[in-house]
Amino acid sequence: MDFFKDDTPDSWEKLRAECARCSACQLGATRRNLVFGVGNETADVMFIGEGPGEQEDIQGEPFVGPAGKLLDVMLELIDLDRTQVYIANIVKCRPPRNRDPLPDEQAACMGWLTRQIDLVQPKLLVFLGRIAAQVFIKPDFRITREHGQWFDVDGRRAMAIYHPSALLRDPSKRPETFVDLKSLQREIKNLYD
Ligand code: URA
Repeated sequence: MDFFKDDTPDSWEKLRAECARCSACQLGATRRNLVFGVGNETADVMFIGEGPGEQEDIQGEPFVGPAGKLLDVMLELIDLDRTQVYIANIVKCRPPRNRDPLPDEQAACMGWLTRQIDLVQPKLLVFLGRIAAQVFIKPDFRITREHGQWFDVDGRRAMAIYHPSALLRDPSKRPETFVDLKSLQREIKNLYD
């Protein structure tokens, strides 16, 4: 038996404290704040983005910049708000100049997200954008073709939608996202019927 092994069950306090001490990749050295996750810790629906941007890095909370404002509108369209869902990212520290998180950074950070999912026990997973979908659904996931389709991810229903940043850059994608959101709304309704 390992004398130093921590056998206590996982908890939000333990996870957050361990995550705050993480130096498993280079992003920890340049971040202002850890962006752990936010929302309902027993939510049925969990949204997973890519990584913090500038505002998230400053405020220590996911999706509080321009993309986050649009995410709030998207939630509202299907009668949800931040108190009803849990929101986290693949990486917890901001990649410099908002570049995509590198594969080794994603891999180094995944353990935290897996433990968050284990604690929340969501029934539905919604991936915001290609990066999260490629991690969880399949490495060659094509967001333009496969957004809005339902997949099985470790026994959970899961869907990817366009990242709100993509919808800010290209509003012509918004009608398709509306259709995907309505599909999510139906799926949520099915949970309670
Ligand atoms: N984009 C993300 O993927 N996550 C955030 O928290 C903010 C912007």
